[in-house]
Amino acid sequence: MSHYKIALLDGDGIGPEIMKEAVKVLNLVAERNNITFDLNHTPFGASAYFECGHPFPDATKQVCDEADAILKGPIGLSHEESQKIPVDMQPERGALLPLRRRYNTYANFRPVFLPPGLAHFSPLKKEIIGDGIDIMIIRELVGGLYFGEKETGTTAEGVRYVKETLEYDENQIRQIAIVAFNTAMKRKKVLHNIHKSNVLKSSVLWNEVMTEVGKDYPDVKVENILVDAAATYLCLNPGRFDVMVMENMFGDILSDQGGGILGSLGLMPSACLGDNKAYYEPSHGSAPDIAGKNIANPYSMIGSVAMMLEMSFGMDQESKNVWQAMQSVFADGYSTPDLSRPGSGVNMIDTQAFGDRVVEALRKMPIVA
Ligand code: IPM
Ligand code: MG
Repeated sequence: MSHYKIALLDGDGIGPEIMKEAVKVLNLVAERNNITFDLNHTPFGASAYFECGHPFPDATKQVCDEADAILKGPIGLSHEESQKIPVDMQPERGALLPLRRRYNTYANFRPVFLPPGLAHFSPLKKEIIGDGIDIMIIRELVGGLYFGEKETGTTAEGVRYVKETLEYDENQIRQIAIVAFNTAMKRKKVLHNIHKSNVLKSSVLWNEVMTEVGKDYPDVKVENILVDAAATYLCLNPGRFDVMVMENMFGDILSDQGGGILGSLGLMPSACLGDNKAYYEPSHGSAPDIAGKNIANPYSMIGSVAMMLEMSFGMDQESKNVWQAMQSVFADGYSTPDLSRPGSGVNMIDTQAFGDRVVEALRKMPIVA
C-alpha cells in the first residue's frame, strides 16, 4: 500500500478556506485508491510571521524537507497590512522565494485551460475562443530578475538609485528547455519560445540554448515570438498556442494574462518542479478582500491537487478524474460568487458546497487501475 507524506501550507487570506476543500479531495482519493496520505499542516506566509516570527519557520522547512510533495495555499496581505511586516520578512520575499530556491523548483507548469463547456467564463468573444483554451505555460522559476543581485543606494550627487540584475547561465536555460521540449512532445509538438532578444542579451543566450536543445527534438516545431507580441496574441488568438516557455518575469506576467483570458485567476492551479522536490500552488494571490467569506472558488487549489497526483504520484487517471469532477460542477450550473458575473443565471454556492460537490462527483467516477 502506497504511503505519501504531504506538507500542507495553508497560507494567508483565502488560503485556509480553499485548502480545506483540497484536503477533502485528497482524503477521498486516498480512500478510493487504498493508499494513505499523511497530511501535515504547517505555518507559512504572513500568518506564520505573526504566529512564529518568521514567514518560513524552521519547523516548516523540516516538514517540507520530509514531505514527498508540498501543497501550498496563496500567501500575502493587502498593501496596507504588508507594511506591518519588515520588507525582508514579507511573505513573498521571506517565504515564497526561499521555498522556490530551497527546492530548486525551476520548472513551473501553469495550465491555461478552459474546456469547451466552460468557454462562457472567458471575457473573449465566442469566435475567438472556439473550442475553449488549452495552453501550458512553462515558466522558469528560480532565475532571472527575481533572484539576481540587487543593490540600492544613493549616488555622490544624492540621487537614489536601484539596480537589479537579470542573470541566467546556459545550464539553467538548458534544464527548462528540456522540460519544455519534453512537454511539447507529449502534446501537439509545437513550442512557442517567448523572448525579447531584440533588446535583452539574456534572451539572446536563452534563444541560442533553446536552438541547441531543439536539435535533439526534430519533431517539435519551434516558434520564436517576442514577449510583447505574445501578450497580444494571447488575447487575439489564444488557439495558436499550445506549449509556451519563458523566463521567470515574463512567465509571471503572461500567466496572469492567461488567468485573464480564462475569466479568473481563480482557475489557475500550478505545479513547481525541481529534480528532487515538487510543490503545488494556485497561481493567484491570497485575495484578502474576500477572505473569511466562504465565497472563494477552490478550483485552483483542487486543480493543484490534480497536478500533484499526476506529477508527483504518477496517478494519471485519478488526476484526470479530479479535473473532470471539478468541471462537472460548473457544467451542472454551479459556481461561487467570486467567479460568476451577476445575472449569469448560475446557482451560486459557497466554497464548502463547491468542494462537497466536487467530492460527490469524484465519488461516482469509476476507478481504473
Ligand atoms: C506568482 C506570484 C509570485 C511571483 C509572487 C507572490 C511573489 O505572483 O507565483 O505568480 O511573482 O512569482
Ligand atoms: Mg504572479
